[in-house]
Amino acid sequence: MMTIQQRYLELIKSAILNELYPELEAQLLYTVLCAAHQQPVQLDLFWQARTDASLRDAVARAKQYGETIHLRLAPGHVRRDQPDLRNYTEYAHSMVGRRRLDHLQHCVEQILSEGIPGDLLEAGVWRGGCCLLMRAVLAAHDIHDRVVWAADSFAGVPTSSHAMDLAYPLDASVLPVLSVDQATVTDIMRRYGLLDEQIRLLPGWFEQSLPDAGIGQLALLRIDADLYSSTNAVLQALYDKLQPGGWVIIDDYGILPPCRQAVDAFRQQHSISIPLQKIDDHAVAWRKAAP
Ligand SMILES: C[S@@+](CC[C@H](N)C(=O)[O-])C[C@H]1O[C@@H](n2cnc3c(N)ncnc32)[C@H](O)[C@@H]1O
Repeated sequence: MMTIQQRYLELIKSAILNELYPELEAQLLYTVLCAAHQQPVQLDLFWQARTDASLRDAVARAKQYGETIHLRLAPGHVRRDQPDLRNYTEYAHSMVGRRRLDHLQHCVEQILSEGIPGDLLEAGVWRGGCCLLMRAVLAAHDIHDRVVWAADSFAGVPTSSHAMDLAYPLDASVLPVLSVDQATVTDIMRRYGLLDEQIRLLPGWFEQSLPDAGIGQLALLRIDADLYSSTNAVLQALYDKLQPGGWVIIDDYGILPPCRQAVDAFRQQHSISIPLQKIDDHAVAWRKAAP
């Protein structure tokens, strides 16, 4: 039987991914698609959308793996696998999906049960969902001597002039959805009742904010920063602080070549040969070995 702590954490993950109200997501999906096709919303179809299996399935599948939903409005209903896009994350507090949230919880609980020393840090927090889950795990296990660091520009991805990043312009002028200001993130954390002294926000570009932030030992380093330059800046500033047995999680390794190249280059420079564990098509992780 699940403990009350496990039930709490399941509920937190459902809230982060907005899994609790699939009917509303299906209706929103229908409405957005009508707007995209400049078609009027029909009230009967709007209400039918609540129980439309194809809509609900599309939303649920996307939330498993943090994927984009591809849909088209067909006469009278909506179908999958067609050209129009709607990002499933519009109504979620993390874009990482269930698989990666479950894995993150597993890593933090393993760190606690094995006594790996140090704080938990995410670089690239967006709306803050992963930091919220880590803070919730600390709360569920009654841990008061570790903090969660949440590092972000709170202004989106930088414009990078690094050669590896040139083909991937992701800054706020191109992808405004990636730019979430600090007040919005703290407001979300407050709604969960989890904004307290065990969450430390670190605003600024990683290159400037991380080296002198006063971060001590780390037990978990979650990097979700898309670019070569951003991923490399985090690894250079923080990998040495990660304790043996600590986890490194790289969110974009499977889908963003600049991120993968930064990780591969860093691992090669530092002779890190510990195999990468695949979490899903996006993310990988490894545990730092004892020296
Ligand atoms: C894909 S989002 C992170 C998603 C998030 N981890 C989640 O759970 O949904 C990438 C984030 O990295 C941040 N970012 C990327 N490069 C950065 C840099 N060099 N300095 C500061 N923030 C950066 C962006 O502002 C953005 O919030």
